[in-house]
Amino acid sequence: MPGAIMDGRALARTIEEDCRRRAAAYRQRCGRAPRLDVVLLGDDPASRVYVRGKFRASERVGIDARDHFLPADTSEADLKSLIERLNRDDAVDGLLVQLPLPGHISGNAVIAAIRPEKDVDGFHMHSAGALMMGRGEGFRPCTPLGVMRLIASTGIDLCGKEAVVIGRSNIVGKPLALMLLEANATVTITHSRTPAAKLEEICRRADILIAAAGCPKVVTAQHVKRGAVVVDVGMNRTADGKLCGDVDFEPVRERAAFITPVPGGVGPMTIAMLMQNTVEAAERHEKARARG
Ligand code: GUN
Repeated sequence: MPGAIMDGRALARTIEEDCRRRAAAYRQRCGRAPRLDVVLLGDDPASRVYVRGKFRASERVGIDARDHFLPADTSEADLKSLIERLNRDDAVDGLLVQLPLPGHISGNAVIAAIRPEKDVDGFHMHSAGALMMGRGEGFRPCTPLGVMRLIASTGIDLCGKEAVVIGRSNIVGKPLALMLLEANATVTITHSRTPAAKLEEICRRADILIAAAGCPKVVTAQHVKRGAVVVDVGMNRTADGKLCGDVDFEPVRERAAFITPVPGGVGPMTIAMLMQNTVEAAERHEKARARG
């Protein structure tokens, strides 16, 4: 029997509904909606699509999303002074800079300039450190958080399971490995320097296999143990512009117990988690104001 599909769109809608209620209650108490400011440099088409998705979701949830669209040749100093201004602005609850940034700008320096209390992407060192130390401060990055929610929706307990993450990026692979570890899985990270034969051998051990390599169809049926949970974080574009994941979907589905589709799997969950982090940022901000 083919594996069950984990429907990220449906799960994202239930999370958005919960965020919508929290945002409405916040608006009642504070007289304004939670606010999210999004900074985008240049006109990378994929980034534009992602940012549009964030604005649409904000509208559904009742988050006041503001755009700061800047030319691609904006200097790092100008970008940082915009961030400084938004950091100081008490009306701003959440602030993110869409990645990737143009080559002349240091992504790390820009992320470090964001106030940790507004870092709803969870990319700041403060957030990364809190995750590593198993603390509740900071924010968790949206994509790994969405993957964990999808896995939780299967009802499978991760304790003692073998989890394999393909990809070691700061925004997906590394934080996801830490979250899986926190859920008591035995975790392996593979990456671009893992030899292909070794990759297959390691993946075949996985009860939970997460592909975040950014490489179309890097996971084939040969990589998958029967009954595994397979999560596809890949967002690759084919030559004809179609979205395609890191997993060769149909043959892998034959072996998996659960699998996420692309599109309609991790993508909508990433946005739902951004909505959740933004509402959370607004609620924490409200508490901080009350403390004075
Ligand atoms: N680029 C790709 N994914 C993300 C994300 O989750 N947040 C931001 N800011 N940029 C991204």
